[in-house]
Amino acid sequence: MSMLFEPSSIGSLELPNRLIRSATAERMSDLDGRPEEPLAELYSELARGGIGLIITGHAFVHEGGRCHLRMTGIHRDDLMPALEMLTRAVHDENGLVVMQLNHGGRECASEAIPGLPVAPSPVPSSKGKERPQELNEDGIKDILGAFGDAAGRAQAAGFDGVQIHAAHGYLISQFNSPAANRRRDRWGSTPARRMGFLEEAAVSVRDRVGDQYPVLIKLGMEDYVRDGLTLKESVEIVRHLADWGIDALEISGGMGGTSVRKDVLRVEDEAYFLDAARQAREATDLPIILVGGMRSKQVMESILEEGSADFISMSRPLIRQPDLATRLREGQERSSCISCNRCWPPPGEYGIACRDPDREK
Ligand SMILES: Cc1cc2nc3c(=O)[nH]c(=O)nc-3n(C[C@H](O)[C@H](O)[C@H](O)COP(=O)(O)O)c2cc1C
Repeated sequence: MSMLFEPSSIGSLELPNRLIRSATAERMSDLDGRPEEPLAELYSELARGGIGLIITGHAFVHEGGRCHLRMTGIHRDDLMPALEMLTRAVHDENGLVVMQLNHGGRECASEAIPGLPVAPSPVPSSKGKERPQELNEDGIKDILGAFGDAAGRAQAAGFDGVQIHAAHGYLISQFNSPAANRRRDRWGSTPARRMGFLEEAAVSVRDRVGDQYPVLIKLGMEDYVRDGLTLKESVEIVRHLADWGIDALEISGGMGGTSVRKDVLRVEDEAYFLDAARQAREATDLPIILVGGMRSKQVMESILEEGSADFISMSRPLIRQPDLATRLREGQERSSCISCNRCWPPPGEYGIACRDPDREK
């Protein structure tokens, strides 16, 4: 049997196969962040389609950390019934679901948050973007506590684990990045201090959920911007993850859209974070999940066989074919996703969908 369909575990969580749906912001929650019925239906469909584990789209842990409208919230207790609807939908189909926890920091759209966006330093992410407000010590403590509280809510709502979002230029990745973090206090100026925010967030989460609950991380291994986080520095972060209570590491990279590379059409373009996974493998015994342009069974299997990753995760291919895991098991060799990045709706439209005009019906 292909290794892709062998069971394996992440901490106390037993997955039936090695295929994971990577976090994908669905934009299917209401304007308070409350998930709506179509999101539960999407998760049912993914679970029915044979994926070993679903990771939800990023959910905001604090009202000042909402990245965009219609993002799912996990920042308030009154969202619990709607969150429970999601876990029920997955469990009714014998699936597993982990909630991704996020704070957008300087990437938050102004219409999505009450005040100014916050960040480690008042550095906009790109020209023309709003200048964020530098977080003070109280603000930092507040957000660290919010990560723990959100993890507690996810656990109580029946999620099978949580994933801390430490990639793609959001708040934790901003603290990790020398390009975004110019602080001179205990939270910046050296690699050890910059990763202190992630450490405290992980500890806040672990303290809240107890020893046995699965806590994953999605880590940006390299920023690909001037003065950004380098692979050498992120490998140092990887060395600490097990001590901070993390159970599995998903490898990603890039600030913003650079994590979602276009036109992955040839085998050589696939697995675009494989080098980072190989280096992380040298630095940790934690299970490694690899995302980024995973498209063909041949590439996925060779990576599992070489041992650079233990699980394969995908986002866009599962927008196109939610039952891709079953299709691969039954003989399809490759995802039909062409990585055209037409997964996002035009402004004003609802949800995510494959909008490749040539998509087979
Ligand atoms: C529509 C869309 C929404 C995404 N939302 C998230 C998200 O909420 N959290 C996250 O960590 N990554 C998010 N990503 C990135 C994916 O998880 C993944 O890392 C990236 O798309 C590369 O994998 P792929 O080639 O399988 O699509 C998103 C990607 C897409 C296309």
